[in-house]
Amino acid sequence: MYSSTNFKGISSEEETVLNWLSESLNEEGYDLQSRIKNSNWKNKIETLRTVMDERSMASRQEKWVPPKDTKPVQCPQYPERMPPSVTDIADSEYQEFRSKIVKRYMQALIGETWSSLEVAHNLPQSLDDELLNDIYWNSPFSRFLTSEFTDNDLTIFQTFFEQKSSEDILYKIDHSHLKDQKTYPGVYIASVIGLFRLIDEGLQVVSISINDKSFTPNQGESWERARLFLLQGSSLSLVGGVHASLHFPTDSVIAITRQYIPENNPIAKIIEAHSYLQLPLNYGVRWSPRSYAHNSPREIYTAFPGPREDVFHGFMTYYEGIEGNSAYPNYQFPLSPPEFPGPYCKALKQYYDVILEFCRTVANQSDLNNLVQWADELNALVPGFPSGKEITDSEILARVLTGYIHSVSVWHYLEHTLYSRLPVHHNPHRIRVEPPTGNDLKTEWWQRTRHTDLFRQEIARRMFYESHTVRNMLEVEYGFENESLIDAAKRFKKGLTKVDKNLPKELQLLHDMACSIQF
Ligand SMILES: [Fe+2]
Repeated sequence: MYSSTNFKGISSEEETVLNWLSESLNEEGYDLQSRIKNSNWKNKIETLRTVMDERSMASRQEKWVPPKDTKPVQCPQYPERMPPSVTDIADSEYQEFRSKIVKRYMQALIGETWSSLEVAHNLPQSLDDELLNDIYWNSPFSRFLTSEFTDNDLTIFQTFFEQKSSEDILYKIDHSHLKDQKTYPGVYIASVIGLFRLIDEGLQVVSISINDKSFTPNQGESWERARLFLLQGSSLSLVGGVHASLHFPTDSVIAITRQYIPENNPIAKIIEAHSYLQLPLNYGVRWSPRSYAHNSPREIYTAFPGPREDVFHGFMTYYEGIEGNSAYPNYQFPLSPPEFPGPYCKALKQYYDVILEFCRTVANQSDLNNLVQWADELNALVPGFPSGKEITDSEILARVLTGYIHSVSVWHYLEHTLYSRLPVHHNPHRIRVEPPTGNDLKTEWWQRTRHTDLFRQEIARRMFYESHTVRNMLEVEYGFENESLIDAAKRFKKGLTKVDKNLPKELQLLHDMACSIQF
């Protein structure tokens, strides 16, 4: 039996896990057949032991404490570079978050350790170009596709642009910002850009550049590595970049709406209905030292490649944007549907139209002059949020409400669900071989990635990325009193259902869609 005297500093949950594992293994020990079948259980225990050692050797990180205020506050570490944070959260909301979400985290930590070890030790379908093309067309990584190239891109991929026919449409996936980020010893990331050609059924990878040197599919080990670094870049840029911009900027909308618009106003009712659990959850992600974003090696579910400061620089890069590079637009509160290629965006747009129709009805019945102060406050806190003057146009108000609902429900939910379908082996946060140079020694998958890292990421996938809906989109009640709004809400739900029915099978997810940010 493991006890806290053997493992200094482990928590009671971890002790429970280790004891449970030990008991399970003792039971298996009576059965020779299952011992043979499970002959690599020792390797799995070894993986767990390494992660526990990393935990006990890590020093505690300084706690980041935000100022508490009734208004959204600037990040003390990176003022003006992160979305303002809401720090005054009602106790009832916090308790709901603890009972509905934190409890599930704890259950996953205890109950899913062993199955996560299994996943880490077994290679899924092996990665090839066909699978890579499929991932970039169908998964949320399609968000990063852009057909605008910088002069530097044209130089790196010069040969391919020279060969390109006039009908060819090329896209890039650009994660060149990673060149500025630091990693832990032995963990590698790279400045990476993928070049794809649009074909009938989706995409075809043409080349991948790593640290400004381009590679092609015929380059064996170098190509294997280039592919993996591209996927790593997308994984980090999604989780630690664009997805964060679905979470945090709308915190201010919730807080300011509660302060400036009376509860019985339909606009307040809409925002409130789609705000369930968001503020306490986002507070936890931003400020808890145990948060995934803080990447403390003391937590067995943290898997980012480098220090917390670099994780936050990833968030900031995508929030601030990089001038002159269309792969890095700055964050703007959405007043129109997302625009990028592939079925993921197509589904997002179809939902957007249905939400907009609903919000137009609400906006048309609103007294717009009462919203001036509300909009002016938000205009100062959220980039791209219309000013008090602009909000008096009911179409702009409808688009504000749509942008809010769409981001926190449809887009946020679909992004989690589709991203979490990718096996961790296919989008590793950490890579353990150096980026390719063109003269690279052959490696196997378990040398390019490490079981301990994959285990960490798998536990995180289950705890944080998989969708665990608490309140569903179709269950939302707005509490309208006015007949025409009650009818509009009914039509809205019918409209959502119709979109869902006509989507490709793998995107028919409305039955489980969360109405707000709940994970
Ligand atoms: Fe999320």
